Amino acid sequence: MKIVRSPGAMQRLAMEWRRSGRRVGFVPTMGFLHEGHVSLMHVARRRVGPNGIVVVSIYVNPTQFAPTEDLSRYPRDFARDRELCSEAGVDVIFAPLDGDMYAGREQGLYSTYVVEEQLGQGMEGASRPTHFRGVTTVVAKLFNVVLPDVAVFGAKDWQQAAVIRRMVKDLNFPLRMVVAPTRREKDGLAMSSRNTYLGPDERKQATVLIRSIRQVRSRVGAAGKGGLPAVDLKREVAGLVATAPAARLDYVEFFDPEALRPVEQVRKGGHMALAVFVGKTRLIDNGRI
Ligand code: PAJ
Repeated sequence: MKIVRSPGAMQRLAMEWRRSGRRVGFVPTMGFLHEGHVSLMHVARRRVGPNGIVVVSIYVNPTQFAPTEDLSRYPRDFARDRELCSEAGVDVIFAPLDGDMYAGREQGLYSTYVVEEQLGQGMEGASRPTHFRGVTTVVAKLFNVVLPDVAVFGAKDWQQAAVIRRMVKDLNFPLRMVVAPTRREKDGLAMSSRNTYLGPDERKQATVLIRSIRQVRSRVGAAGKGGLPAVDLKREVAGLVATAPAARLDYVEFFDPEALRPVEQVRKGGHMALAVFVGKTRLIDNGRI
């Protein structure tokens, strides 16, 4: 397994692979890897085959964090990440430095961003107004450097995957997007690098996200064809979240899974997403109803 730091060197390597006809599968991450990330690496390998190349990027992208957010304390453990990638059969880790990824940004020279203007407006985009601009920008840059045939993302960040899929279409990136299922802990908590922030009591209360999704699913299942009004379900979820003393609901939304348009009536096959602060830690989750 190779570790590449410079975007120039990464791009040269990628161009060589392209010339020799090798397929490239790519998993962008911010590191502090867990089983969810590893599952994406396996999906990438399956897609490109034994002779293909699997690239994982590890880069805590500063432009997707607001000044008030957790950029400086975002967890990092490169030695462990390297071990997990190696075990998963990854060929190359691309781990650039800020100064190389955004050359000139410190001096105020960096000035090009990629913005998706519709799917990224609600939910995460409403709570974190500059977040998706940072995500689409860095992912576009990573695509230009790694030149993947296949890029793998997690359903855990449902809106992020939808925004990136739109960008890939709109900007004609010559690659296929794959979205892989959310990996969870035994008690249903979605795996996340941010779970490490949770104290033991907060960790227990954090199951309120998956419990909310399951409760809505069972209520809508029992309601039959007509479904249930989103306003009523929102009130119910707010009530359930309020039973966890460390938890505070940021948003809960019901929408159609592709266009992310909010729905007034929630039926089977619809989608739900929520964000909850547990103590100071902001967690997100989503699921099909
Ligand atoms: P990060 O949070 O590290 O996640 C990297 C990828 O792993 C994303 O596609 C995310 O959806 C996926 N993922 C996270 N938790 C998962 C889980 N429990 N099960 C399955 N997949 C999971 O998302 C980002 O980084 C960044 O925004 C990035 C796309 C790398 C751009 O900086």
